[in-house]
Amino acid sequence: MIILGIETSCDETAAAICKNGRILSSIVSSQSIHSQYGGVVPEIASREHERLLNLIVHNALNEAGTNLTDLNAISVTHGPGLAGALLTGVTFAKGLALGLDIPLIPINHLEAHIYANFLADSSLKYPFVCLLVSGGHTQLWHVKKMNHYILLGETRDDAAGEAFDKGARIFGLGYPGGPAIEQAAKGGNPCTYSFPRGLMNDDSLEFSFSGLKTSLLYFMDDYRESQTMKIQDVIASYQEAIVESLVEKMRRAIHITKTDTGVIAGGVAANERLRECLSESLPNIRILFPDLTYCTDNAAMVGYLGEQKINSGMVGTLEFDVKPNLSMS
Ligand code: KG4
Ligand code: ZN
Repeated sequence: MIILGIETSCDETAAAICKNGRILSSIVSSQSIHSQYGGVVPEIASREHERLLNLIVHNALNEAGTNLTDLNAISVTHGPGLAGALLTGVTFAKGLALGLDIPLIPINHLEAHIYANFLADSSLKYPFVCLLVSGGHTQLWHVKKMNHYILLGETRDDAAGEAFDKGARIFGLGYPGGPAIEQAAKGGNPCTYSFPRGLMNDDSLEFSFSGLKTSLLYFMDDYRESQTMKIQDVIASYQEAIVESLVEKMRRAIHITKTDTGVIAGGVAANERLRECLSESLPNIRILFPDLTYCTDNAAMVGYLGEQKINSGMVGTLEFDVKPNLSMS
């Protein structure tokens, strides 16, 4: 089966071709225009998707050596995400599916992030725990099998990606903040300053990052660079607080569910320090990470999950809307 995946939930315009579980092409255009505003401007994101979609789909087909007429199905992200951005992708996909008379599969963006781990290792078996860490979500899922997901915990306030993005803004680094912080923290000592880790004292599987951000704001008010106070130490310490919270909750989730496999999904899964700390803290657990290109938003995961849905009996439909607040449970 050859399936075209389309992703436009935020500021990445992406298309990919998946054939029998293998990715033949994956094209992602990141809208760099938002960096001058310090965050994603929804209106601009929608317009950029509209401008780019045709070309990105064309490039994905070309790179895969396929034509529109080779497609057996299309899958498209219909939530969660920015309403206008989702609508551009869904409208485009509906038109194409109707014109080609092939099934269209609506995809949950969060679920697609989780399934990117099957692209990293096709031998991944259910059940497993997934730490889903993106710009808008921080959740722990017990993934029992397809469509059977139990939410173990989530953030009470900011998402981990948001903590990176807001921290980067305070440090005067660019957007998106995660890669900028990771880069700037290199060579810094993560143990220099102790920023707060939220909700660590009880058995909670929930997260909280808003106190961390406030604490950084106060810290930077009084901060003056000197021989003894280096900014990369501050940045590394801030990153460490986020990473430690994530690792500790993942450790608890693995322990509680008695699972032997943990996977990470979403943009923050690209963070090297998080990968390193998870592997070190859970030496007897199989920990999987998607390839770096499949951590942040992409359409390969959408195409792949679309194919899995069809294989599990889902039929195509044109009768669906965008769902900006779509959840997995
Ligand atoms: O999954 P994603 O691409 O989009 C959403 O669905 O939200 O995640 C984007 C988030 C941003 O907050 C970005 O700062 C963060 O992922 N991110 C990272 C890294 N790369 C992206 N955070 C930490 N370290 C990274 N290397
Ligand atoms: Zn995402």
